[in-house]
Amino acid sequence: MPIPKAELHLHVEGTLEPELAFRLAERNGVELPFDGVEELRAAYRFDDLQSFLDLYYRLMDVLRTERDFTELAEAYLERAAGQGVRHAEIFFDPQAHTARGVDIGTVINGLGAALDRSEAAYGITTRLILCFLRDESAESALATLAAAEPYLDRITAVGLDSAEVGHPPVKFVEVYRRARELGLRAVAHAGEEGPASYVWEALDLLEVERIDHGLRCLEDEELVARLVRERIPLTVCPFSNVRLRCVDTLADHPLRRMLDAGLVATVNSDDPAYFGGYVDQNLTATAAALGLTEDQQYTLARNSFEASFLDEPTRARYLAELAAHREASESDSASVSVPVSVPA
Ligand code: HPA
Ligand code: ZN
Repeated sequence: MPIPKAELHLHVEGTLEPELAFRLAERNGVELPFDGVEELRAAYRFDDLQSFLDLYYRLMDVLRTERDFTELAEAYLERAAGQGVRHAEIFFDPQAHTARGVDIGTVINGLGAALDRSEAAYGITTRLILCFLRDESAESALATLAAAEPYLDRITAVGLDSAEVGHPPVKFVEVYRRARELGLRAVAHAGEEGPASYVWEALDLLEVERIDHGLRCLEDEELVARLVRERIPLTVCPFSNVRLRCVDTLADHPLRRMLDAGLVATVNSDDPAYFGGYVDQNLTATAAALGLTEDQQYTLARNSFEASFLDEPTRARYLAELAAHREASESDSASVSVPVSVPA
């Protein structure tokens, strides 16, 4: 059984597998510029964040109805259950849909229908995080938050994603202030391709509680010291970092250095349909590439629950489940008999 964990950095639109994309394209009469699943999958080779975003936004065009969003989220939850995910905090990008004429209510109600069934169907508790596209204007972000107000009972937090460089957090101070007034919590992508200064801004100006990615914090000792001291979680996505060429190979990934520095790192899948694997695959492949100890792998899982927006009783229940998983895995490995000496 995979280690129980929370997934805190997952774009639901990034879980759109080629097979589902073609099925929805056919159902909705949308032309995709690819001649089948194989050709589409072959297009999943990226030079940087922007080259990925171009395909990610293009493929979203197949998502049109509430049912489409429900099926998208259900497909993710079903896969996540098999990866040991017990809690998922799911990003969505309303502006990528409203810009195509899809109502924000269609998006939120469609996702919401899947999330309502998630605990009973998959044993996964969920939260929804509304992300603003940082390469759109601050006014567009404010209008998006206003349009989401009738659905706030479904939304836990706001986030910030899309093309990072040239779109610093300072651009979104007002919309984050408004989100706080509405009782929403806050996270932001920072330090993925953008500099460490964007991480400082996200903390000081947007008052976020977690940093998504945060890789480039390692370039700034004073920033690392602050993240450690204040126990600000980083939602790290190893496969994404390699596929978008933020890191050369998995063996070069700084996750182990992050843990050694005392950072509250978690492992996540970001856009698993595009980056070659879901969250447990990220964890196990990265652990193997970096030689992470069992202890470090359990620390990552514990961090994921501690960094989540769960209520305290549920958090405690998951942490107890994690501890029981560890005890069971230790007694399993202790019961494997090792030949001590073989008489000649
Ligand atoms: N970074 C920024 N925006 C995104 C990402 C990402 O990794 N995935 C989907 N939107
Ligand atoms: Zn992301």
